[in-house]
Amino acid sequence: MASRKRPEELRSHRWLGPSDLRSFGHRSRLRQGGYDAKDWAGKPVIGIINTWSDINFCHTHLRARAEDVKRGVLQAGGFPVELPALSLSEPFVKPSTMIYRNLLAMETEELLRSHPIDGAVLLGGCDKTTPGVIMGAISMGVPAIYAPAGPQLRGNWHGQVLGSGTDAWKYWDEKRAGRITEEEWAEIEGGISRSFGTCMVMGTAATMMAISEALGMTLPGASSIPAADSAHPRMCAAAGRRIVDMVWEDLTPKKILTPAAFDNAIRVHMAMGGSTNAIIHVVAMARRAGLPMDMKRFDEISREIPVLANVRPSGSLLMEDFYYAGGLRALMAELKHKLDLSCLTVTGKSVGENIEGAEVYLPDVIRPFNNPVSSAEATAVLTGNLAPRGCVMKPSAAEPRLLRHRGKAIAFEDYNHMAREVERDGLDVTPDHILVLKNGGPKGAPGMPEWGMLPIPKKLVKAGVRDMLRISDARMSGTSYGACILHVAPESFVGGPLAFVQTGDEIEVDVPARRIHLHVSDAELTRRRAAWTPPPPRYPRGYGAMYSDHIGQADEGCDFDFLAPLGAIPEPEIH
Ligand code: FES
Repeated sequence: MASRKRPEELRSHRWLGPSDLRSFGHRSRLRQGGYDAKDWAGKPVIGIINTWSDINFCHTHLRARAEDVKRGVLQAGGFPVELPALSLSEPFVKPSTMIYRNLLAMETEELLRSHPIDGAVLLGGCDKTTPGVIMGAISMGVPAIYAPAGPQLRGNWHGQVLGSGTDAWKYWDEKRAGRITEEEWAEIEGGISRSFGTCMVMGTAATMMAISEALGMTLPGASSIPAADSAHPRMCAAAGRRIVDMVWEDLTPKKILTPAAFDNAIRVHMAMGGSTNAIIHVVAMARRAGLPMDMKRFDEISREIPVLANVRPSGSLLMEDFYYAGGLRALMAELKHKLDLSCLTVTGKSVGENIEGAEVYLPDVIRPFNNPVSSAEATAVLTGNLAPRGCVMKPSAAEPRLLRHRGKAIAFEDYNHMAREVERDGLDVTPDHILVLKNGGPKGAPGMPEWGMLPIPKKLVKAGVRDMLRISDARMSGTSYGACILHVAPESFVGGPLAFVQTGDEIEVDVPARRIHLHVSDAELTRRRAAWTPPPPRYPRGYGAMYSDHIGQADEGCDFDFLAPLGAIPEPEIH
């Protein structure tokens, strides 16, 4: 049996154990809270990082779930302490939650470091909150377990199932084309989000929760449980019980997050038909764990793993169906010949042990390898003179005719320019044109908002066109679909070649060959570069200015350069 920590070896012992004036202060303040030595003495202090807020409806239940976690911690002999953290509500936070992912990571890391915390339960789920809290926990290094918020219930309108985002885009185009009324549109608005919990399509939230489980950072099956299911508070209490033992076992994230664990996670990502956003987050998480990782690994793995989860936008169902079909354990069991089953997880057991006995109950929802939802890869990484450091695409969500395509560009200088033009009836555009959006990247937008699914120009929507090639340095919501080429690196704002595309230039995309080429001569590109003036910084001061000075490009995971794991940070002095 692995050796267990002794109480005097707990990190919190430095605050609470010594017989000196400082520790007197700490203990007297605990008594101020109504606690006694029996509550804390010799017990692991468990920090519950809670990303609940009044304006994050994906996390409405996390206030109550923190109490469930506490119940579990107490049952197992720990001392729970809830620490609120930045909530990052995807729909409300502007200009993009992506700007603040690293701030949440820093907050998580420093909350854990600065307090007498021995282990952490991380409560998150809405898009950036998952990588934010996990990145922070990795960098801090105390044992941590992630308890995902879980997906919301299916949407409903006139007896039809509605999926977050995906159906909003779909019915918005129907409205633009005059095929649904204002009243119907208002009914959809009231029916698309029926409960607390994250988006219930295979968006970034569902993708990142599944990736976290595949990495070994959640209890088995945790990521698929709908937020409103009674299994969800039971999972949170179980996470509370487990983290106490993880502290005694000193089971830290770095012992779990190995290269093989990341490969497992990327394989699961592909089988789920996961969001392209995950590429940025997984690269960032791996680098926080001190592991080399780049976008190419996604491309390599996508060639061997088909999409098995029949969940929108790549499939037709929703996360609630996925749960009834057996959830992630069942999908991983279907995929087990491709996984490294020996990887260690937060349970203290291996991936193989965690998925033992898992079964697929609904084979149309979690498909077998010989009957996938799509054999088109979930992710392709293209390179070429337009994206020297790469760009990404989701071939499984695009019309196949666009996977090999050459067409003339229509270039937009920024989002507002694009938004005006696509609504203009006189826009000279055909379904073979390629829409190009500049200044949507990490520094340029800033924050790489989910602008990458550029709207199909109104004129074409009315004619029934539903997909065309679109290229940008922005991201795309995981709930989106279409032939959208994203994350072009380097971005246009810093002088990447995208900055020099002009309307009328020809662009060629060959997804099977992983190539993207701007048919403009090198000499002409050099001339355009010389005539280009870099735009002024977006922020004169504050967090935005710090963000702009330190943010990495998409292919690097958009982490801050100073958060790279260059060395261990000493424990705080206690005087
Ligand atoms: Fe929170 Fe989609 S808005 S997960």
